[in-house]
Amino acid sequence: MRNSPDEMSTPQEPNQDLFVAAWQVYWKMLDNNYLFHREAYGCLRTVLTDEVDAPFGFLDVACGDAVMSMSALIGTGVGRYDGMDLSAQALAIAAENVRQLTCESALHHCDFSLALPEWKQPADVVWIGLSLHHFMAPAKLEIMRSIREIAGDSGRLLIYEDASPDGEDRDGWLARWDEQRPDWRAYSDAEWDDVNGHVHSSDFPETDSVWRRLGHEAGFSEVSELFESPTRLFRLYSFQA
Ligand SMILES: C[S@@+](CC[C@H](N)C(=O)[O-])C[C@H]1O[C@@H](n2cnc3c(N)ncnc32)[C@H](O)[C@@H]1O
Repeated sequence: MRNSPDEMSTPQEPNQDLFVAAWQVYWKMLDNNYLFHREAYGCLRTVLTDEVDAPFGFLDVACGDAVMSMSALIGTGVGRYDGMDLSAQALAIAAENVRQLTCESALHHCDFSLALPEWKQPADVVWIGLSLHHFMAPAKLEIMRSIREIAGDSGRLLIYEDASPDGEDRDGWLARWDEQRPDWRAYSDAEWDDVNGHVHSSDFPETDSVWRRLGHEAGFSEVSELFESPTRLFRLYSFQA
């Protein structure tokens, strides 16, 4: 197992203190399950256990600290794990977490939009948890096309991402996001403002029809929705050739 991330590019790094503060806010989100990570990663685990032949290769795109991915993977038939992320600090924590796997693993310090078109290692399952929504639809499509190449005819892409019902625009999705504030009781106003500012500037949801169209245009013939968060802000899709 390789635990020190390799450098596939030279991304800009945030300052360490800012990173720790930001990651603590993220962990609070996980602890309180505000984005329904538990259900989404539980759903991923069910797919990996019931539908994917072992041993399988798993590519974790924007793995962060990989803590939730480990909850889905430990004890499954995973035969190789690769995680990629822009944040060296997140990867340092991920390096500790992936030690729990008994298979070969490697972490890659890179921008996935640049790394995926060059990626040579085939993967049976490619997973993106809450990161593809930072891109506009044409860039999402290019990324999904690269993943279609990596997954080949027998692999699949699974994503858990910002999604709207058909007919809702970004402002409508953001208005529903804002309505969550009273439920995020563990967050101070400063913490909420921090996350909220990021979401308002960087989240670009797609409607259900657009996610399906992107999947088909990327070369996947089967697109299915496996989970929708109770807030109806996020959906988990499976894309297969
Ligand atoms: C919201 S976290 C998601 C972490 C984890 N996948 C999850 O489901 O909780 C977003 C992660 O995406 C990473 N990220 C964002 N844009 C990226 C990019 N272009 N390339 C690589 N990683 C990126 C961030 O560093 C961060 O770790």
